[in-house]
Amino acid sequence: MNENTAGPSPMVVRAVQRATRGRQLGTYPEYEAARATLARHFGVPAAQLLLTNGIDDGLKLICDTFVDPGNVLLLPSPTFTMYQFFHRVAGGRVIEVPYDRSFRLPLGRVLDLLAPRRGHPPRWLVLANPNNPTGTLIPQEELKVILRSATRTLVLVDEAYFDYSGQTVLGWIRQYPNLAVTRTFSKAHGLAALRLGTIFACRELADTLRKAQPVFPVNSLALAGALESIDHPESLRQHVEQVLRARELLCRFLDSLGVPYAPSAANFVFACFGENAPEIARKLETRGVLIRHWPNHLRLGRCFRIGIGTAAEMRKLIAALEDLRGLITPQDPEKAWGQVLEEAKSD
Ligand SMILES: Cc1ncc(COP(=O)(O)O)c(C=O)c1O
Repeated sequence: MNENTAGPSPMVVRAVQRATRGRQLGTYPEYEAARATLARHFGVPAAQLLLTNGIDDGLKLICDTFVDPGNVLLLPSPTFTMYQFFHRVAGGRVIEVPYDRSFRLPLGRVLDLLAPRRGHPPRWLVLANPNNPTGTLIPQEELKVILRSATRTLVLVDEAYFDYSGQTVLGWIRQYPNLAVTRTFSKAHGLAALRLGTIFACRELADTLRKAQPVFPVNSLALAGALESIDHPESLRQHVEQVLRARELLCRFLDSLGVPYAPSAANFVFACFGENAPEIARKLETRGVLIRHWPNHLRLGRCFRIGIGTAAEMRKLIAALEDLRGLITPQDPEKAWGQVLEEAKSD
């Protein structure tokens, strides 16, 4: 699930262990100092940062706050499924706009759906940037055009993979009152098990969301881990560098197999293995290699999302794929992505 499979640094582990000592587990978490430190780290006022139990919890919070039955969520597709999960639980409808075969957002169509002349513009639009599962980025200029056009729609830019892409719109919350940005400690920071996410937004939007939050949304061990992790940017940088190097190696290997893949700005690669994808996934699993695949999905059934793990894990994956070369047929990228991305609506 795109985690940092090496986990957090030993210093972070020790900080979490320290937070379990003495009477600390017996008291409710204290947020004020942690929020101030995190806000300084992210360069925003503390009032514009919300702590959530992972981004997932932040998505539910947005739905609890804003989504009424019948409201529309506008989404590119394919994208991370939890956006629509919480939206549908709240009784909302989803409109999907498929990425084109070059993994670009059909901007004209998105702007048309956001146009204020429409009776009921979408309640919210989510752009995961980089996107999951494709790993692709939406150019900043396009994001700006979207934010300016979404005068009656909340735009969430989900930057769960920011540490790998380095591209952010976080500073834009000062200009755009309709923008919310999410980050997480689950990915590059290696703290997925502890659950800590953040939402950033202008003061008014942040205050509105806070009204729907429980008093203690995140636990003190998650805070201890996150605070230690931001104190050691060197460990994070080393992890990111290792991932970028291993991603490059994997891409060169996929090139040699003739397997098309999307240009990734994240710690995973979305690749099209064609008709034999389900069999390849099964065989990889028997060798102890788990990749994300969608055996029951109309369009994505031919694809894998391959997480970038440690150097040893990547060697194991490449060796296993070498052994399965006979099942892998080289494909024309245009044709492959045309089939995957444009063939049909998601199921
Ligand atoms: C784009 C995106 N957003 C959010 C999440 C969930 O993050 P968290 O662990 O903070 O709930 C994921 C996890 O896969 C993701 O891919």
